[in-house]
Amino acid sequence: MHAALILGLAAVLASAGLVALSGSATAQTTLASAAAAKGKYFGVAANENYFNESAYTSTMTREFNSLTAENSMKWDTVQRNQGQFNWGPGDRIAQQARNMGVQYRGHTLVWHSQLPGWVNSGNARQAMTNHINAVLQHWPDAAYWDVVNEAFEENGSRRNSPFQQAMGDGFIAEAFRIARQADPDTKLCYNDYNLENPGPKQDAAYNLVRDLKAQGLIDCIGFQGHFNSGNPVPQNFHQTLQRFADLGVDVEITELDIAGSGSSQAQQYQGVTQACLAVTRCTGITVWGVTDKYSWRSQDTPLLFDGNYNKKAAYTAVLNALGGSSGGTSGGTTVGGGDNGGNGGTPGAGCTATYSETDRWGDRFNGRVVITAGSAPISNWSVTVTVHSPQRISATWNGSPTWDGSGNVMTMRPNGNGTLAAGASTSFGFTVMANGNWQAPTIGTCTAS
Ligand code: XIL
Repeated sequence: MHAALILGLAAVLASAGLVALSGSATAQTTLASAAAAKGKYFGVAANENYFNESAYTSTMTREFNSLTAENSMKWDTVQRNQGQFNWGPGDRIAQQARNMGVQYRGHTLVWHSQLPGWVNSGNARQAMTNHINAVLQHWPDAAYWDVVNEAFEENGSRRNSPFQQAMGDGFIAEAFRIARQADPDTKLCYNDYNLENPGPKQDAAYNLVRDLKAQGLIDCIGFQGHFNSGNPVPQNFHQTLQRFADLGVDVEITELDIAGSGSSQAQQYQGVTQACLAVTRCTGITVWGVTDKYSWRSQDTPLLFDGNYNKKAAYTAVLNALGGSSGGTSGGTTVGGGDNGGNGGTPGAGCTATYSETDRWGDRFNGRVVITAGSAPISNWSVTVTVHSPQRISATWNGSPTWDGSGNVMTMRPNGNGTLAAGASTSFGFTVMANGNWQAPTIGTCTAS
């Protein structure tokens, strides 16, 4: 449908009081969509043990577009006994991410903690080699892997571990080299805590990243971001992020949680969000859990949702810092700007689908499809989005996607936003990695029931 015709139709519907026109782009209403509109991801540590709790799963799928396994891809789950691999728990995280149409971060390959007792200085080199190869072969579609976790003491010296004992300081480069060879497509990260403030530990990590980068072995650094009153979010955090980004790697906040409550907690969350937004190579933020009640430090109430899955002040602060806003319905009837050939259905039919491109970066663009109910209310809708090879959809929000075998055709159905009054709208969004092709996706006819 021609853009002018859509605008005309929207105006008619609006004058009939059926659609709330929002003027320019409607504010995003979830962390995932607001972050995506800024070119970032907003992730969460997911724990498959809670997937049967519907509030857990619906909050996770609605708000986040990146998953990290809180525990189930760690060594003591994957290979508790030498040579016996237990993929099931981690597979549930990976599959959940695939079902959501979002990325997952692999966490973690080489770490002194949650490491079974059979790994010792006598066998650590062989064990590390086998473990990295097996895990990367099993989960090759992770967007990132934390190859080495927490290798430094606070004074910048190396932490003792079977790996350090067996191989000395070179174990880190060795781990990255094995990982690079096992999976050349996955971004490889070093991850640690207490790097957020200047000091010997930060410098040690900086030197490590610089040296690994010179060898082409590293792509990213993760700042865990576990904060509390004795260790608050530093004012100059964006400068630290920039310092590492200037080495030519992505920077990420990988395990964010901040002890506290109310406005002081909210302000700190806002500060971290702004710090990431200020740094182009800060690719995203992951909070370390969905709800305070299942947090590894739940007594600190450090997360964005309380124990009843209510949004906390911290949630609103993050959403607002990302340019989003709670409340109101998502959608509206925004057309224009980047509209490049959307496809509407027949007016008066069950629903119409209207595409517009909302953002573009050097390697990717975001699209939004507005679903508008026809002259009767609907309780369900579905529409296909076909991308043109070698494009790939890397993230979606406000919808529940399924994919055809080729991976090019996504069928989007509602994710809690299926019920629409006559003439009312909702929208879903997605990120397309262009891979050199900037053609707009083809939007199928909207079907409603
Ligand atoms: C924590 C998990 O949240 C807990 O459930 C588990 O008992 C211990 O590990 N740094 C990391 C994470 O890299 O893997 C840790 O996760 C928290 C500290």
